[in-house]
Amino acid sequence: MTELDQTYWNQLAQVQSELSQKIINDPWRLTYHQMPVTGWMNDPNGAVQFDGVYHLYHQYVPDNPDGGLVHWGHKTSTDMVHFKEEELFLSPDKPYNKDGVYSGSAFVKDDEIHFFYTGNVKNPGDHDYTFSGREQNTVHVVSKDGFTIELEEVVIPHEDYPEGFTDHIRDPKVFEKNGMYYMVLGARALNHRGKILLYSSSDLYKWEYEGVFAEGEKEMGYMWECPDFFETEEADVLIFSPQGLKATAHQYENTHNAGYYLGKADWKKLKFNSESSFKELDSGFDFYAPQTFEDESGRRILWGWMGLGDTTPEYSNPTVARGWQHAMTLPRELSVENGKLMQRPLKEYEMLRDNHTDVQISLNNESAAMEALNQKAFELKVTIDSVDSNLSISLKEDTVLSYDNKVFTLSHGPSGYGRSERSVEISDLHTIHVLADTSSLEIFLNDGEHVLSTRVYPKVEKDRIHFTGSATLFAEKWDLNPSI
Ligand code: FRU
Repeated sequence: MTELDQTYWNQLAQVQSELSQKIINDPWRLTYHQMPVTGWMNDPNGAVQFDGVYHLYHQYVPDNPDGGLVHWGHKTSTDMVHFKEEELFLSPDKPYNKDGVYSGSAFVKDDEIHFFYTGNVKNPGDHDYTFSGREQNTVHVVSKDGFTIELEEVVIPHEDYPEGFTDHIRDPKVFEKNGMYYMVLGARALNHRGKILLYSSSDLYKWEYEGVFAEGEKEMGYMWECPDFFETEEADVLIFSPQGLKATAHQYENTHNAGYYLGKADWKKLKFNSESSFKELDSGFDFYAPQTFEDESGRRILWGWMGLGDTTPEYSNPTVARGWQHAMTLPRELSVENGKLMQRPLKEYEMLRDNHTDVQISLNNESAAMEALNQKAFELKVTIDSVDSNLSISLKEDTVLSYDNKVFTLSHGPSGYGRSERSVEISDLHTIHVLADTSSLEIFLNDGEHVLSTRVYPKVEKDRIHFTGSATLFAEKWDLNPSI
């Protein structure tokens, strides 16, 4: 039984064509980041490499830039830089997913991709949809190519979830360990604690509840979304997106956050033991619900949603009026090195570099400028020899990156549309690596030790990048050619 009739699809096509008219000529359309063709994009889903082809699925509302009924959009690539837009992969057309094909993941076994996602259902009636009225079914989809569906079935119906939880249990991520398959699910307990549930399976079709894999005290928030788990030589990594963390100085300043624990999973007790504090994956304004996957060459790659919900009234995205909203971060390669999770932009993106310039700068409470005739899409790598007191770099229209008193700060003027300042403490700053697109900045510090991602909407860009303060540095800049 399908719940979406022909009228729905006709209307969707009609609205999409109206939105595309607004999008044409929008100078804020990104040139090398993944974004929705029209409408709204949120979480990355089902990221996988299969038979050499990279697949990025994502939460997608093609007919509304403000969000709404989510499908899984689909993009493919053979080089991780140039992507092709594919047909919608999953749509909310079944009784068990009728109010949204929510987030999920992909797992390759033999010659098939197994997808797991959350089928969101809102039952009619007088409900708050947290304590009653909502179903979040775990659904399994089998595909032999990533495009067509061989089988789709509910493997954990909502009523089979354990006691003690609200209706919010979602975002399955599947992995293999010791010949068993495991699934982590994000959850909100009745006592408003975020938790991660663990299920196991010997065949990917029948799943059994094993208990709580990880949980937090009150200060770790009321809901943990989008869990992800992987092993590295140095440590196991548990990623999730907690809601309800309290902002502290230079930490958790956004409405919702995304971060990780390093630790060790105990496979006898089926528990994750964290051995680090919870660290944010990104200290900028626009980052949430990331997902990782291992590609065929063994790299652990992360995509984040370069966006965030519930940011108004603090900040917003003027692209809504132009028919679209949000994007993905650049894919990042992850590794754990000396107790730190490092994130680096995928090397492949160097193929977009053009027009290299560089300059050696020595500042003593003064200012120097680097020519930057193109500030739309560029890469800037600053290697710092020393910072005597402070350093600031002005770029785009009114954005400033500064380092002062062991704090790195990203600040926007009006082009941030409400985004003001985000900071991160960093005791010794060596490198600032900026990947700038028409309406985004991703700033990697100390070779990937910290990242700050932000959307920004300049109307006029300056033709110089200005450096001020007291510092000695070497700056390199490339224009970046479009990949879209
Ligand atoms: C995270 C999230 C997920 C959910 C999806 C719905 O941004 O809230 O928990 O599955 O978005 O679009």
